[in-house]
Amino acid sequence: MTKVLIATEKPFAPVAVKGITDICKEAGFEVVLLEKYTSKAELLAAVADVHAIIIRSDIIDAEVFDAAKQLKIVVRAGAGYDNVDLTSATAHNVVVMNTPGQNANAVAELVIGMLLFGVRNRFNGTSGSELMGKRLGLLAFGATGRNVARIAQGLGMEVYAFDPFTPAEAMAQAGVKHVATQAELFAGCDIVSMHIPATPETKGSIGRALVGSMPKKAILVNTARKEIINEAELLDILKEREDLRYFTDIMPANHEEMVAALGDRYFSTPKKMGAQTSEANINAGLAAARQIVGYIKEGNERFRLNK
Ligand code: 3PG
Repeated sequence: MTKVLIATEKPFAPVAVKGITDICKEAGFEVVLLEKYTSKAELLAAVADVHAIIIRSDIIDAEVFDAAKQLKIVVRAGAGYDNVDLTSATAHNVVVMNTPGQNANAVAELVIGMLLFGVRNRFNGTSGSELMGKRLGLLAFGATGRNVARIAQGLGMEVYAFDPFTPAEAMAQAGVKHVATQAELFAGCDIVSMHIPATPETKGSIGRALVGSMPKKAILVNTARKEIINEAELLDILKEREDLRYFTDIMPANHEEMVAALGDRYFSTPKKMGAQTSEANINAGLAAARQIVGYIKEGNERFRLNK
């Protein structure tokens, strides 16, 4: 019998686990659950006899593929797949997929929520500012960027985007102004929200030069990845420019230093929670389960990431 492992260090909402289980059972598959595991050894033991794995930001590297002798498919229930070693997957004849767009609205709502929390001074009773009329720059116009744009437009913000992979016409159709360079986006927007993946090209790419070019009282929001930030440079420029603020859903390695140096101009969620809603868990988890059934039963490779 085909065995599907749900391996989530950060668990799905129970309703999503039930939905995944129902889809798998309907297909005649067995489901095994490994949640909140605290050691790699637990993951290595759990993968030994499974044919499919559903993960979130869980690390699936060569050691995991070596241990998973029956494995055919891994589905990352979410967008970013920098946590999976695609080369090793291919070497082990394992298909890797993601579920693009399924948790995008949840992340977008968090962006706006963090912004409101920040510009209203953490709801502490003092006079803050409004988002209406502010220039919001989206660094990438994929599924999450589009959702942020939609909500921000409802708040009366002016939305701009830089994305070398999206034509200007697609942005125009969404009422978003196309910006030709990343430098222009940072220099011309009151708020920049980042939605780029962590790749060799983007890692460490957001630092002193870009952040330092932002207008007075600008805000940088990170719901993407920790790795895209040059954390030492960011701290330096934020110390220098006392008008700038940084709100992040991915705690930096220098979090304590940021808190000590920046006070209320900085905050981080304790654990990445952009996609942590039951709706996003259901959307991404059920999509992952359907993709596994589709691949195992019909060889459907849509959303395959490794070649
Ligand atoms: C993603 O890449 O889909 C998001 O960063 C969400 O990640 P998570 O499933 O670990 O919350």
